[in-house]
Amino acid sequence: MDKIIILDFGSQYTQLIGRRIRELGVYSEIVAGERAVEPELLRDCKGIVLSGSPYSAYQEGAPAPNQSMLETGLPLLAVCYGIQWLTLHSGGNVERCDTREYGSMPVRFLPEARANPAWASFSNGLPERFSSWMSHGDSIVAPGEGWKIIGVSDRGVPAVLAHEHKPWFGLQFHPEVSHCEHGMDILSRFVFDICGAKPGWSIEAYLEEEAKLLRARVGAEPVLLLISGGVDSTVAGAFLLRSLNPEQVYLLYIDTGLMRKAENDEVMRNLSKLGARHLEAVDAEAQFLGVLAGESDPEKKRHIIGDMFIKVQQTAVERLGIPNAFLAQGTLYTDLIESGKGVGNKAQVIKSHHNVRSPLIEKKRAEGRVIEPLDRLYKDEVRALGRVLGLPEEIVGRHPFPGPGLGVRILGDVTKEKCDILRDADSIFIEELRARKLYDRIWQAFCVLLPVRSVGVTGDERAYKYVLALRAIQSEDGMTAQPFAFDMKDLFEISAAITNRVPQIGRVVYDVSSKPPATIEWE
Ligand code: XMP
Repeated sequence: MDKIIILDFGSQYTQLIGRRIRELGVYSEIVAGERAVEPELLRDCKGIVLSGSPYSAYQEGAPAPNQSMLETGLPLLAVCYGIQWLTLHSGGNVERCDTREYGSMPVRFLPEARANPAWASFSNGLPERFSSWMSHGDSIVAPGEGWKIIGVSDRGVPAVLAHEHKPWFGLQFHPEVSHCEHGMDILSRFVFDICGAKPGWSIEAYLEEEAKLLRARVGAEPVLLLISGGVDSTVAGAFLLRSLNPEQVYLLYIDTGLMRKAENDEVMRNLSKLGARHLEAVDAEAQFLGVLAGESDPEKKRHIIGDMFIKVQQTAVERLGIPNAFLAQGTLYTDLIESGKGVGNKAQVIKSHHNVRSPLIEKKRAEGRVIEPLDRLYKDEVRALGRVLGLPEEIVGRHPFPGPGLGVRILGDVTKEKCDILRDADSIFIEELRARKLYDRIWQAFCVLLPVRSVGVTGDERAYKYVLALRAIQSEDGMTAQPFAFDMKDLFEISAAITNRVPQIGRVVYDVSSKPPATIEWE
């Protein structure tokens, strides 16, 4: 399968570049920006993309591509920092801009863009002028040797560069961002016309290839999958059941007592339907709530939940009596990238705390016995795989749910009573969103139970009840988010539905914060 490699220098948009290329039907792989050429890495590789970066090209410690990557003879597309670095290291100049350019910025091609056939095919079919998406604090002031400016922004900033002797292009703007007009056209010109890549990437192809690899790797040995109830582990379960003999697949689900309403039954029902033979649910609610009692510090709560998870998991796995089993996990491509494992050492480690560092998993990893069948997929691709595997839409389209569950959505100390109140409120919120056909337009929605009570009236009586916050956001990948713009009427009705049906809640508020500066979850 033809592929495009993306050298990652830590830009928040690197993943988007990878996704966009896959949307074009071509397999893409993000690798550490500094990675050197290896035969396996370059197999079927048709082109290389250099990503952006939070660094300045002239800064000390700025990440740099390995020289060997620049000598492959392959076409190259350098985005933002990528082209600034190349400029600086080929005799050109890059300086800090007076004002940081961020957002929409018109760009126009210069007549030079048609000066030779390769350049013409890069800009072929694009309008002379279009609205790009910029995000940079530095700017190219003089191109490097062999480079020509073939497009500029309305402020005169070099925006598109091309190399005179190599199939190399540079963009100051970000074609991968959806607000960039013709961004996909530009990527498509590069991938198909300049690199000559052929589309071969599809979920069906992935399923077939991964299944073959998996069978060759595990033979008839047992495989144990830890399922959380979320989309990823359920799809991983469906994948194992489809690719292996269901008799060798062991599924273990831990009910922490911090799950959503009816979640346990739903998980078990769906996996049974897929033909699971060994499906075990461990009821650990009392243990989790026991150790959480009285604790209100968010970080401590996370640790308590993580530690208890490991304890319960280990006991349950020992009981299963398959000590040498392979251990499967529903890790996604983004999980690897976000925890800094899959990519360069300059990538910001943003969410490593989200993945429990389980000694069991680490031991299995050291033995080379961890299976991660989704680790080359993005979330939307996992959903597509779930559909191909026959999972129902309610499962594959489900919003993400954090590992520590309701534990981080009950601010302050966690009790069973609060979990039950939150479960009821949350299920009404989700039910209302589905009924109003809003659920699929929202990336993630949930309720947060606040550690304050407020005064209200119920009938003629004064009441003193919980305050509930609603959170509904739109996002591409959870790294940034905007609050969902509800119709006020919807919000009023949802609020009324909750306060009518959950007697302990007296007041509902809507969280209108973006990420950043807020996070999606409240703790
Ligand atoms: P934040 O709150 O960091 O959330 O903006 C971004 C996304 O990650 C989810 N999240 C978690 N997922 N374990 C997880 O598996 C966690 O500890 C965790 N904390 C946040 C959150 O729900 C959102 O989708």
